[in-house]
Amino acid sequence: MTPAYPHARLRRARASGWSRALHRETLLTPADLIWPLFITEGHGVEEPVASLPGVSRWSLDGIAARAREAVALGIPCLALFPHTQPERRSEDGREALNPDNLMCRATRAIRDAVGDAIGVLTDVALDPYTSHGQDGLIDDAGYVLNDVTVEALVGQSLNQAAAGADIIAPSDMMDGRIGAIRVALEGAGHANVQIMSYAAKYASAFYGPFRDAVGSRGLLKGDKKTYQMDPGNSEEALREVALDLAEGADSVMVKPGLPYLDIVRRVKERFEVPVFAYQVSGEYAMIEAAVAAGAGDRDALVLETLLAFKRAGCSGVLTYHAAHAARLLGA
Ligand code: PBG
Repeated sequence: MTPAYPHARLRRARASGWSRALHRETLLTPADLIWPLFITEGHGVEEPVASLPGVSRWSLDGIAARAREAVALGIPCLALFPHTQPERRSEDGREALNPDNLMCRATRAIRDAVGDAIGVLTDVALDPYTSHGQDGLIDDAGYVLNDVTVEALVGQSLNQAAAGADIIAPSDMMDGRIGAIRVALEGAGHANVQIMSYAAKYASAFYGPFRDAVGSRGLLKGDKKTYQMDPGNSEEALREVALDLAEGADSVMVKPGLPYLDIVRRVKERFEVPVFAYQVSGEYAMIEAAVAAGAGDRDALVLETLLAFKRAGCSGVLTYHAAHAARLLGA
């Protein structure tokens, strides 16, 4: 009697490289990557961030060099984060409104270096500028006040747009800030400045190395749980996204990345809008630690994790591995 062989052999399509390439559903390209960069004062300065091996803070000349590098690699967008000098941090984070702060100068330096060949995404939140490390203005009990913080964020956004930012990216999680920022941008003649909302941003344990990089870790008292989302929630993420879209967000972000791909997928299926994810500092550090421990191959881990974001529904990914990944993809 003839054995009952399978009629469907899915392994047929996997049997050779050309066939796997032909059948691959999801592609990762350098154009899917947004490269976060940390800025510091000075000239010719590169300060390695100890908890983020391979990542440094750069002075403006270094930022301009990274911008040229990114253009050559086909990376379409840079995300900027400042390391503000301690003497410029204050209770109210007013340095965020200074037209000559690090963010604004870095934005102009990138423009001078590469023109409009790359997008500049600027982070809106007060934590790099406050003496207490919270993302907004606090009351005597340390509670982050919503509406006065939104006013400050509007000022910060206008300041960044005036310096030439292409995408305003509020990472603060205050209620109502997207609408307030959109109205203000329109009123100031910045109709084409985009808003990428950190719509579903969780109060996560994966942000530690980032806080080292911007110098807010030692300053932060308490946590951010009264504004960032509870990691147990996903319906609430859909509500956050719905509100931000209704208020005028052009695209939305989910953050952190890999542990939250279920949220990416739910948001993509529900809203059918551009969704981005942030593979955050702790995720980067985890991969680097695994590589250092001999537990995996860096190139393979980087490309597989980034591809997973695409498969889940992302239009693009913010990742500290952006330049490395783009190099691998271009090779
Ligand atoms: C703060 C902000 C954080 C990150 C981006 N913007 C940290 C936080 O919320 O405390 C984290 C990014 C990362 O960990 O790579 N506005």
